[in-house]
Amino acid sequence: MDAKHLGDELSAVLHTEAELRGRLAELAREIEADYGDEPPLLVGVLKGAVMVMADLARELNFHAQMDWMAVSSYGAGTKSSGVVKILKDLDADIAGRDVLIVEDIIDSGLTLAWLKENLELRGAKSVKICTMLRKPDALKVEVDVAYVGFDIPVEFVVGYGLDYAENYRNLRDVAILAPHVYS
Ligand code: XMP
Ligand code: MG
Repeated sequence: MDAKHLGDELSAVLHTEAELRGRLAELAREIEADYGDEPPLLVGVLKGAVMVMADLARELNFHAQMDWMAVSSYGAGTKSSGVVKILKDLDADIAGRDVLIVEDIIDSGLTLAWLKENLELRGAKSVKICTMLRKPDALKVEVDVAYVGFDIPVEFVVGYGLDYAENYRNLRDVAILAPHVYS
């Protein structure tokens, strides 16, 4: 869906589809250089990371195996709870493997900090993080993020996989949701 179909539901487009794709291409070159001929297992976090995963994986010029987890931290609202629950676990055994977590957004960092530790405890050889978006001014815990698409302001954003109450995921761009939609 294009932003023009959403009328006043969005206050601003932050990053267009073309910008997102261009930045992912740059990150893919970094990832290829860092991992060489030992590609990591890409672990996507459902559902928000679906678009990032699809675009990043196709951009990578080496074998890109994908696995998925679903965790809950937000429910249907807009505030992070810090309580993380696994709703769907990995299919793969990651012991001894290099893992690259692929995420849509890091807000407080609580979800990713928890997830990174969880995967390390399973005996992964390495666990790194790639996120399309990060809100540096919202971070509550320190998370080491190897690959960041764009740093954005502390606003609730939707599109490119990101939802509000399950809507807007299919918006091509990343946009700030107008406050009247959720208040
Ligand atoms: P934390 O705060 O744990 O949050 O880093 C990570 C997860 O929260 C969701 N999230 C958002 N979803 N617009 C969204 O649609 C946002 O601005 C936003 N901020 C955080 C998201 O699911 C992410 O994985
Ligand atoms: Mg979400």
